Amino acid sequence: MTAIPQLTHTNLWQNRCYIGGQWVAAVGDNTLEVVNPANGETLAQVPLLTQKQANAALVAAEQAFDDWRARSPNERGALLRRWYELMLKHKDDLATIMTLEQGKPWAESKAEIQYAAAFIDWFAEEAKRGFGDVIPATKPHQQLLAIPEPVGVSVAITPWNFPAAMITRKAGAALAAGCSMVVKPSALTPLSALALAVLAQEAGIPDGVFNVITGKSADIGEVFTQSTIVKKLSFTGSTEVGRHLMAQCAPNLQKLSLELGGNAPFIVFADADLDLAVQGVIAAKFRNSGQTCISPNRFLVEVSVQAEFVQRLTKALAELKVGDGLEEGVQVCSLINDKALDKVRRHYDDALAQGARCEMGQRPGSLANNRIAPIVLTQANEHMQFWQEETFGPLVAIKAFNTEEQALALANDTHYGLASYFYTASASRVVRVSRALQAGMVGVNEGAISNAMAPFGGIDQSGFGREGGRQGMREYQSLKYICQSIDNG
Ligand code: SIN
Repeated sequence: MTAIPQLTHTNLWQNRCYIGGQWVAAVGDNTLEVVNPANGETLAQVPLLTQKQANAALVAAEQAFDDWRARSPNERGALLRRWYELMLKHKDDLATIMTLEQGKPWAESKAEIQYAAAFIDWFAEEAKRGFGDVIPATKPHQQLLAIPEPVGVSVAITPWNFPAAMITRKAGAALAAGCSMVVKPSALTPLSALALAVLAQEAGIPDGVFNVITGKSADIGEVFTQSTIVKKLSFTGSTEVGRHLMAQCAPNLQKLSLELGGNAPFIVFADADLDLAVQGVIAAKFRNSGQTCISPNRFLVEVSVQAEFVQRLTKALAELKVGDGLEEGVQVCSLINDKALDKVRRHYDDALAQGARCEMGQRPGSLANNRIAPIVLTQANEHMQFWQEETFGPLVAIKAFNTEEQALALANDTHYGLASYFYTASASRVVRVSRALQAGMVGVNEGAISNAMAPFGGIDQSGFGREGGRQGMREYQSLKYICQSIDNG
């Protein structure tokens, strides 16, 4: 059994929460088991916090807020920068922790740590750019200003599929803006979050500014949404839970960002560079073995190149190594749990029952430890289950199309609108199709679109709010308008 890297002189943090600068243990034996999806082994027991303990974290964040917001942006930026440097220093250990609890291939974990750290680096700089506006006044005796202010204590509920990056892109923005934050990571992957807290503490982020609590999502969600301390909630996860949180936030009118599910189309036009498109499928669909909100889910290929595309795609996918994420060279790993595998199997069975043809792969469940080797189906159609809900696994289902108009109608045939992708060599089509796709993000001849410097987020049932980029920090600010009379000063 691979040991969890310690990061510090003690492994105490692996079964505690981080509240107000203290490492807090469970009350009694109220703990949550953290399991390695690659082999089912128990890695750690983290506290199943009571609602009272969760509330104590909000109080700690509230107590830390005034001092933190009063610090200069340069000082906040310098502390964030130190945190970023420590993440890079410990990137191998952080990647191992992530692969142990989440399963993703170690090289991908390392890439995620780099990506996660990039948010802290970006927001360390953005802290200094919280500019407001001087508004031209119509009355000569007035000066009009609009200045951004930190919104206050913020909370984040983060998912298991990107256990580090989904935290840093919220916390980086919040802390840069001058907000304190309480993070509730997924119960499946709390160790990466706690490891980030170890490094935040070492970086000198003041006590109470960044807190990590573990427990039952429903219990902690209730504490977050019912507290008048909380001014902002940021959630990444399912649309269903997002809706529920939004309803729960209504009485206190907390500011919200919701990064919810996707159902991305991936269109390959006949004039596309097919090898580039195949690489795009691997980058976008096989990242985290398909367990990514921006993974393409509905593949649309122009009929005249379908056979050629499928032939090249299956050849490339056959090269991907399936196994334990800690094994050298593994690119496709165990899904997070049985439920995840069941969903892929349900989509596979349904598609085959409705006439899809299996070009590659086996029925999910035939490999041990919830692993699924790449599956490619053709003759897919809009009536199949995968068309309506994201598969979140390594299953590529392709529908052929004849015209650009038809491809666009099919691509937009969803209430989700997170990411979308298309491949073409035509410059005019690049403009037309980018404009027509109804999604928050568009990859044009590119499958790897995520970047700390760019605004990430969706429309419609994929949620609202943007993370990363210039826009990310604004989600943690409110705007104050000041109308100043300068006559009698
Ligand atoms: C996600 O969509 O699950 C997050 C992926 C990313 O930030 O690239």
